[in-house]
Amino acid sequence: MRAVRFHEHGGPDVLTVDDVDEPEPGHGEVVVEVGAAGVNPVDTYFREGAYPVPSLPFVPGSDLAGTVVSVGDDVERFSLGDRVFGTGLGNGRSGTYAEQVAAPVDSLAHLSDDAELTDAAALALVGTTAWRALVHHAGVEPAERVLVHGGSGGVGHVAVQLARAMGARPLATASPGHHDALRDLGAESAFDYRRDDLAAAISEAGAPDVVLDTHMDRYLQLNANVAADGARIVGIGNDTAEGGFDDIGVTKSKELRYQFMSMFNTPDPSAVLAHLNELLVRGDVEPVVHDTYALEEADDAQRAVLNDSFLGKLVLVP
Ligand SMILES: NC(=O)c1ccc[n+]([C@@H]2O[C@H](COP(=O)([O-])OP(=O)(O)OC[C@H]3O[C@@H](n4cnc5c(N)ncnc54)[C@H](OP(=O)(O)O)[C@@H]3O)[C@@H](O)[C@H]2O)c1
Repeated sequence: MRAVRFHEHGGPDVLTVDDVDEPEPGHGEVVVEVGAAGVNPVDTYFREGAYPVPSLPFVPGSDLAGTVVSVGDDVERFSLGDRVFGTGLGNGRSGTYAEQVAAPVDSLAHLSDDAELTDAAALALVGTTAWRALVHHAGVEPAERVLVHGGSGGVGHVAVQLARAMGARPLATASPGHHDALRDLGAESAFDYRRDDLAAAISEAGAPDVVLDTHMDRYLQLNANVAADGARIVGIGNDTAEGGFDDIGVTKSKELRYQFMSMFNTPDPSAVLAHLNELLVRGDVEPVVHDTYALEEADDAQRAVLNDSFLGKLVLVP
């Protein structure tokens, strides 16, 4: 079968499509024929060597959606022919940019027949991230204001919809070209993150009770200044907080709660994915697939996911 691999760390050019052996399911695993694999920024961190891989060559990719073609020992939840989607692969084990993948069952959930494989692959990692941030960590309540930085991104555009589905009031920062689409997805207001009066504009819309932050070092102080008393601030971004706070006092007087998280630590990803499947088939969360790529175009997809401004997700279709 074909799989995208890198034999050394480096830029997108190190990605090659290789012929490799078909995987066998281990204990507690199934093999999935991949219909679609999501493309995420984290895939590029493993490729670059910023995040460790067990050995080289290595297949990147966290997300998949497809059909079970082989079932390992001690697997009761899944059978041959089941439609499934999953996330969390490509971290400590081989990833999903391949025609077939052996996946542990706790990284998978059943996918309803009327859901598209590309949508499911687009939703898995970003939906799990948004769920862990807004449900597990922030405990969003109806009518609360939820500020999502990078609202047009893979995580952001799903977080806006999830907040809306929870009865909350999403606000988003994004490039102006994506503001109309974000309002269509449920954002009450969208703000250009480049404007000089960003904090004043957010405050005018109302102090957020929750912030989902993809760029913590840029917005540490802004979040503290605009947040409501007792706000919960969940940081998922990869930036280093070089600046820190100019005024730590506001964080204390408002008794803010900061939470940093990694999607890979989600305790029961399969349960979260099962909820996401429900939201997907009800139409409460509709991932936007901006573009699809063949395995041979994985390098272009990884360039685009870091460099291009688009709303939604990129997906590989083997
Ligand atoms: N901790 C975790 O578990 C976890 C999980 C998933 C993702 N992440 C990280 O979270 C970040 C976002 O992931 P993603 O999948 O959503 O990435 P993505 O699809 O590439 O989206 C990035 C978004 O950031 C926006 N952006 C760029 N500069 C910005 C700024 N200065 N202020 C506000 N927004 C800005 C972009 O907006 P425009 O295109 O409109 O300019 C784009 O919408 C990445 O760093 C990723 O590695 C962490």
